[in-house]
Amino acid sequence: MEEKKKRPRKPKELENQPGRYDERNTLNDLTGKEWLLLTKSYWETETSIIDKGAYKHPAPFMVGDIKKLISLFTKKGMTVLDPFVGSGTTLIAASILGRKAIGIDLNFEYKLLYEERMDHFNLEKTGEYIVGDSLKILDYIENVDYIVTSPPYHNILRNTSKGTRNNTGKDYRMSARDGIEYYSELDNDLGNLEKYEDFLNALKSIMEKAYGRLNNKKYASIIISDFTVNKKEVCVQSDIVRIMDEIGFEFSGTTVLLQPVKPLYPFGYPYAYKINHHHQNIITFRKCE
Ligand SMILES: C[S@@+](CC[C@H](N)C(=O)[O-])C[C@H]1O[C@@H](n2cnc3c(N)ncnc32)[C@H](O)[C@@H]1O
Repeated sequence: MEEKKKRPRKPKELENQPGRYDERNTLNDLTGKEWLLLTKSYWETETSIIDKGAYKHPAPFMVGDIKKLISLFTKKGMTVLDPFVGSGTTLIAASILGRKAIGIDLNFEYKLLYEERMDHFNLEKTGEYIVGDSLKILDYIENVDYIVTSPPYHNILRNTSKGTRNNTGKDYRMSARDGIEYYSELDNDLGNLEKYEDFLNALKSIMEKAYGRLNNKKYASIIISDFTVNKKEVCVQSDIVRIMDEIGFEFSGTTVLLQPVKPLYPFGYPYAYKINHHHQNIITFRKCE
């Protein structure tokens, strides 16, 4: 009997090699293999026990998740913008990766939190934290290579009476919330708009300005989950894609960011099915003029 030909195996020493960098790469500094891994349509969130300071903000990003996005969509030295920067995670990730960055937030206290986190990680600043309304500040920004941001989720922080997590426990994502906390009392805070339609319009106005500041052929990612409005489940993702499309952005795809360690709540039990949101959607767009 003829012996079956075996495919040659990759030499052992090359198995963990991250791949080759292609000189034609205009998007990022990744090798082909690193790039490919990040095109997977789901990621598991990168929780970090050493970043407990982030939870002084009610809804912080995880630095590891934003590092992945920035390394996928920029090269070293490029500029990242976050118009809702909160505790400054985007600025922190940009500093670690040697990117310039501009972060804007209405709330001065979050700038102090960002500075605390930068000290904690002993990082050199490569970005600027501007306190103010993005709708106005964006008039003075230019030459942006990537936008990554997460707006307030309409007014759900006010409606659900959640607060910042008490960070005494081992697992900060699971620990109890200490009380009511929302971003601010300011009228121009997107988290304070009563009607969902007003929230979408305000977000659209800010993203419209951000579009004008973004260099052509560059990308923007909005991180948001679906949520309920007046107790009804809303497909927020489809509304975000619609408003971004109206602005002129081209939809590039959604990466599902899995958050497996969140607690499960019996919302509708035992009468009706109500979903537990255990992921965020990273919805990415491109400016193509
Ligand atoms: C979901 S949080 C962003 C959290 C951030 N990704 C982090 O890692 O901490 C949304 C932020 O938007 C800010 N915000 C709301 N309306 C704004 C506006 N008009 N201009 C600038 N920031 C605003 C809030 O103060 C809040 O910190």
